[in-house]
Amino acid sequence: MLSYRHAFHAGNHADVLKHYVLGLVLAYTKQKDKPFWYIDTHAGAGMYSLTEGYATQNAEFEQGIAKLMAADNLPNPLADFVAQIKSFNLNSSTSDSVNLYPGSPAIAQDFLRADDKMRLFELHPNDCKLLIENFRGQGKQVKIEMQDGFAGIKAYLPPPPRRAVVLIDPPYEDKQDYQRVVKMIKDSLTRFATGTYIVWYPLLQRPEPRDMMSDLMALNVDWLNVEMTIHEPAAEGFGMHGSGLFIINPPWTLPNILDETMPVLTSLLALDETASYTIESKIA
Ligand SMILES: C[S@@+](CC[C@H](N)C(=O)[O-])C[C@H]1O[C@@H](n2cnc3c(N)ncnc32)[C@H](O)[C@@H]1O
Repeated sequence: MLSYRHAFHAGNHADVLKHYVLGLVLAYTKQKDKPFWYIDTHAGAGMYSLTEGYATQNAEFEQGIAKLMAADNLPNPLADFVAQIKSFNLNSSTSDSVNLYPGSPAIAQDFLRADDKMRLFELHPNDCKLLIENFRGQGKQVKIEMQDGFAGIKAYLPPPPRRAVVLIDPPYEDKQDYQRVVKMIKDSLTRFATGTYIVWYPLLQRPEPRDMMSDLMALNVDWLNVEMTIHEPAAEGFGMHGSGLFIINPPWTLPNILDETMPVLTSLLALDETASYTIESKIA
């Protein structure tokens, strides 16, 4: 059963970390004058209103992107990310207000050149319909499929240009998703070892995320792992206190950019004094 709707969480701290790092990876990837594919196994609706509908219920964006929009003197990489979000909000009432928040496909599309392609999977019929509406008229550059992204990705690996950035961003409402990610990554690496794979995961007080991370960190690949917690884990043991991104074959420039900017991002999004970040990597 598909109960997860990303619109409830659009623009929250986890989206900010994910989309900021996704933009850094894509900016690096497009520096080379050779086409690449962007593949999103769990794409969501592509664009979210922050002024009506689900996103207004808990207004999670107020503890996320809204804080960045209001910040001054950001280091360049974070300022570039905020400028990108502002570009989707050119008709907002004030320059710091955000009415629309882009999902990962809209973030990625900004980085595509004429020969780059985007392949999107979204299983929820309503979100897939919204995704198709949001990307109507893009021609062959964008292909959207309402199917299981864990299985569907196999058809695209290796991609014809032999260059790709893959985002794997499941809801993890089904505990099986953690091991599905590991299985999918192992299979994908046999098909296309040189791709850049970005796995998003929540920080929770339960074993599955840690088990998944141990399996991923044991892979014989170059990787970088960045985590950010924004508050102390809840005493009753529930809820997400942060999130992380595990990146296989990361850009060599990424560790330095994250070293420079994660302290700023973490202090902007902190909800208490325990907020922190970690950056680990295994790069041969
Ligand atoms: C965390 S959201 C994606 C958010 C999006 N990547 C973004 O950053 O804007 C996860 C999405 O995966 C969809 N989904 C769940 N299971 C799926 C599956 N097996 N294959 C493809 N999509 C799935 C959900 O409907 C939901 O829209």
